[in-house]
Amino acid sequence: MAIQRAETADQARDTVNGWQTDGLSVGFVPTMGALHEGHLSLVRASVAECDRTVVSIYVNPTQFGPGEDLEDYPRRLERDCRAAEQAGADLAFCPADRAMYPEGYSTWVVQEGLTEVLEGEHRPTHFRGVLTVVCKLFNCVPADRAYFGQKDFQQTVVVRRMVRDLNMPVSIRVMPTVREEDGLAMSSRNAYLNEAERRQALCLYRALGEAHRLYRNGERHADALRAAMERVIAKAPLARADYVDIVDARTLRRAESADEQAVAVLAVRIGKTRLIDNHPLGEEFPEH
Ligand code: PAJ
Repeated sequence: MAIQRAETADQARDTVNGWQTDGLSVGFVPTMGALHEGHLSLVRASVAECDRTVVSIYVNPTQFGPGEDLEDYPRRLERDCRAAEQAGADLAFCPADRAMYPEGYSTWVVQEGLTEVLEGEHRPTHFRGVLTVVCKLFNCVPADRAYFGQKDFQQTVVVRRMVRDLNMPVSIRVMPTVREEDGLAMSSRNAYLNEAERRQALCLYRALGEAHRLYRNGERHADALRAAMERVIAKAPLARADYVDIVDARTLRRAESADEQAVAVLAVRIGKTRLIDNHPLGEEFPEH
């Protein structure tokens, strides 16, 4: 079946409500477009678990800070709709900026505690923008389940917390990070990398692999794991780390000693491109 399109909140909500009245379950995959296999894995997970699947494609301006890549962010709506359709999605919700943030817009979802660290420390207004738009998208697309990628680990933690704190009637599903053949986590921002940068971008994956290897060999001092990751990053001359850390998965606080709840996280600039990745130390390492 050809994918349907909705451009307004009412169109999206009417379609979803109609399905639910017919007793069908609905899955939702929020994205900013430039769809790659990481996004499409979420669509496929939803298609496998739900009767109908909605994908939203919206480059949300409020989650970009000043001087970030809002203008350059890739926009490929037609191609994205075709890719979503091929992966089995039933509806693409593609709102215009004025539909999401009309004149005089002034309401924000602000979360305390989990949003000031890691990404939030380097991108202070980022999670206010993410949570606001995700809350709005959930109101436009009142799905039963919503799918997020482990790739954006802190995002999964803050979205789950918002859903719990605000009693939102949606169940959050988190799916594994999809990687390129050499291990680099797929990201719309990988398109910014030139050849040399693309090669050195592998340092994120390698640093996580090193932390994993040491952890598996019994190293439990978080500082030793951090230092080992930093050494890997330092070997890539084009790489500058924003942060390299071992944190507790529930609180996002810096861990002193690593246990099964510890997650290795990092954000690294490769030239002008900022990439993030993570690995929960209690899980198997995705060898590539
Ligand atoms: P975007 O970066 O487009 O990502 C949309 C979803 O795809 C997120 O849940 C993200 O974690 C997931 N994703 C991205 N790369 C992935 C990969 N390599 N493997 C698995 N999943 C991956 O995240 C956002 O958009 C926005 O913040 C959004 C939630 C849409 C709000 O604007």
